Amino acid sequence: MPDRLTLIAPDDWHVHLRDDTMLARVIPHTARSFARAIVMPNLRPPITSVDAAMAYRKRIQAACPDGLTFEPLMTAYLTDHIAPEELEQGFADGVFTAAKLYPANATTNSAAGVTSLDGIDAVFTCMARIGMPLLIHGEVTDADVDVFDREAVFIERHLRPLRERHPELRIVLEHITTEQAVDFVGSADRNLAATITPHHLQINRNAMFLGGLRSDFYCLPVIKRERHRLALRRAATSGDARFFLGTDSAPHPREGKETSCGCAGIFNAPYAIESYAQVFDDEGALDQLEGFASRHGPAFYGLPVNSHEITLERVPVEVPDRIDGLVPFHAGEHLPWRVVRDL
Ligand code: NCD
Ligand code: ZN
Repeated sequence: MPDRLTLIAPDDWHVHLRDDTMLARVIPHTARSFARAIVMPNLRPPITSVDAAMAYRKRIQAACPDGLTFEPLMTAYLTDHIAPEELEQGFADGVFTAAKLYPANATTNSAAGVTSLDGIDAVFTCMARIGMPLLIHGEVTDADVDVFDREAVFIERHLRPLRERHPELRIVLEHITTEQAVDFVGSADRNLAATITPHHLQINRNAMFLGGLRSDFYCLPVIKRERHRLALRRAATSGDARFFLGTDSAPHPREGKETSCGCAGIFNAPYAIESYAQVFDDEGALDQLEGFASRHGPAFYGLPVNSHEITLERVPVEVPDRIDGLVPFHAGEHLPWRVVRDL
């Protein structure tokens, strides 16, 4: 077994960098490990215009520590009323890399999301025409659908019909959590991919209830049973280019997590690549890590792979209990691989 592993520098195809003081706290962690990242637009207010995205991109660049080269790739937040022209303009200008679809009220800051997919069909037609990727939070919000079934139901009720109606639309099903999603994405002939988070690969839903109610493991889509975790691990480590890295690192202040109605989101940015490395190692698939982390994402987005490399070494690293007041994923644990910094 190798003790060192050099990879093309990875990218994070799904991250929440937030804004203001939280942005300043979290950006170093993403920028240290990832060359580029797809930045989610669910701020308050959400990023719904080219101007707002340019201004947010500037704030991210300004908050990025000196000496780190990091490229934020911006996304537009789809609403019931967003104009296709705004997307087309932003995409043509290189401001918007993609657009994000949040079903209204599916997750954090999604109240302004889309209430009916049919209602924005003109947006999908435009995006398909110009080749702009659609990133989907794939969950229904119907109160009568069990929270653990919301992804699988979304696929049948909404994603399958959307794909049939717009086969040219390039779609990423974000942070997949179920074997139904793995099967659906894995059977698509083209124009469909999925991101997978470290936490959905590492833990199953028991983690949320281990010895009490553990809000640090609460995220959306909610973590599922073991069968699904194993399906995700097989997909991620298979070498199939339709699956790639997206951490969904989603920090919330402590008071947002430790309350009677805790926020959804896991802050995994500081040790995300180390966490993925452990998964691939455990699956005997370290040779597939570079594809998942560094090649499949750029291939889908039509971007070049990064020109520099990172090296991981098999030296245990201890994850602190707190980082800047936030609880990181794997808090208090040891991970077997670490990134060699400052080679
Ligand atoms: C994300 C957040 O907090 O912005 N939360 C989460 O649990 N993943 C939103 C999202 O991606 O659903
Ligand atoms: Zn997210």
